[in-house]
Amino acid sequence: MQPADRLRNLPPYVFARLGKRIRKLQAEGRDIIRLDIGAPDMPPADFIIEALNHSAWDPKKHSYAGYVGTPALRKATADYYARRFDVEIDPDTEVLPLIGSKEGIANMALAYLDPGDLALVPDPGYPTYTMGARLAGAEPYPMPLLPENDFLPDMDAIPNDIADRARLMWISYPNNPTGAIAPTEFFEKAVQFARKHDIMLCHDVPYADVTFDGYKAPSLLQVPGSKEVAVEFNSLSKSYNMAGWRVGMIVGNPQAVQALLQVKSNIDSGIFLPIQDAAVAALTGDQSWLAKRNAIYQERRDMIVATIAEIGLEARKPKATLYVWPHVPEGYTSEDLADEWLLDLGVSVTPGSAFGKYGEGYIRISVGQDTERIREALERLRGWKPKKR
Ligand SMILES: Cc1ncc(COP(=O)(O)O)c(C=O)c1O
Repeated sequence: MQPADRLRNLPPYVFARLGKRIRKLQAEGRDIIRLDIGAPDMPPADFIIEALNHSAWDPKKHSYAGYVGTPALRKATADYYARRFDVEIDPDTEVLPLIGSKEGIANMALAYLDPGDLALVPDPGYPTYTMGARLAGAEPYPMPLLPENDFLPDMDAIPNDIADRARLMWISYPNNPTGAIAPTEFFEKAVQFARKHDIMLCHDVPYADVTFDGYKAPSLLQVPGSKEVAVEFNSLSKSYNMAGWRVGMIVGNPQAVQALLQVKSNIDSGIFLPIQDAAVAALTGDQSWLAKRNAIYQERRDMIVATIAEIGLEARKPKATLYVWPHVPEGYTSEDLADEWLLDLGVSVTPGSAFGKYGEGYIRISVGQDTERIREALERLRGWKPKKR
C-alpha cells in the first residue's frame, strides 16, 4: 500500500534526519557537541514550573481543554501585546492559543491555500512555511533573503502576476536562520504590499524577546491598520524556554484567527490546561529573568563570533535570535563544512542549505547549548583549517 502522493513532495523533516545521524555517531561512542539545535538549553523560571505543578494537581484540569484556549491565556496574550508593543488586541476575537506555533503555521496553509495557489516564503527560512504550502497542494514561491538587502525580502522584485496569485506571505524578524532584524519601515511596506495584492501577511515572531545589546524587537501589528491584512504567530518556546511544552498563539486579523480555528477544531483538541495556566504565569509574572537569560546568550554569541573570525569565517553579530550565520570558506558547500566539523571535530552545526537554496554558502550555529560545551566546541574549532578543495 502506498502513502498519499503529497508525501512525495514532503521530504522527512531536515532536523529529524540530522538528529538521527548524530544519534548514530553517539552510539559509536563519539562526543558530539550540538550547536545545531534551535531551542533554549536552559529551563523556564521556577515560578512557571510551579504554576504547571500546582495546576496539574487540580482534578478539574485533566479534561479536554476546548478549542479556543482559556480566557485567562487569551487575556494574558492581549495584555502582553499591550505592555510589550502598545498594541490593542481583542482577547475574544484576535487571539487563538496554539500547540506551539509550528502547528499553527502548517495549519494556516490548510486554512488559506487551495491546490494551485501560491505562498510567498522567505529563502532561507523556517521549513514549515514551505512544507505547509506543499501539504495543502499549493506552491511555495521563494523570496530570497540576501546579505546585500540585510536579509530582508525585496518585495519590488516579486512579479505582479506572482503577487496577485499569492494568498499567504511569510516573514519572520528577528529571523531564523540569518539572525537579521527588520526596521519598522519594512513592516509598513509589507502591510502595503499585502493590502495591494490581497494577501494574508503572516509574521512569525518566536524570537521577539530573545534580543541582545539593548535591542527591542517590534511587532508588525504596531503598523496602523495591519490587523486588516496581517497576523502574528508568537510562541513561548524560545522567549520563555518552554520549547517542549508546546504553547504559542496567533494574534491579529480576526477572520484569519477564525479560519485557523475552523481547521484546528477539526484536528486537535486544545492545549493541556495546566500548560495554559503556566503560560499565563509566564506572560504575566516577573519578566526580569529574561534579561539575565539573554545576557547568557549574548556572551555565547560573542564567544562564537570571535572564534569563528579567528578561523576565517565571517559573520554579522546578531542582535536577536539564537543564531550566528557565517559564510563558509571558499571551496566548501554548507554540507561539506557541516559534515567535516561533525566527523572530524564532533561539532554539529546546521548547513544553511537546510533552510532553502539561498541558505547555501552558510552554516547556522546556535547559542542554545551550555556555555562550557560551547567553549569546548570552540576549542576544537580553533585548531581547524580549511582543506584545499
Ligand atoms: C522561525 C520559527 N518559527 C516557528 C518555530 C516553531 O516554534 P514552536 O512550534 O516551538 O512555537 C520555530 C522553531 O524553531 C522557528 O524557528
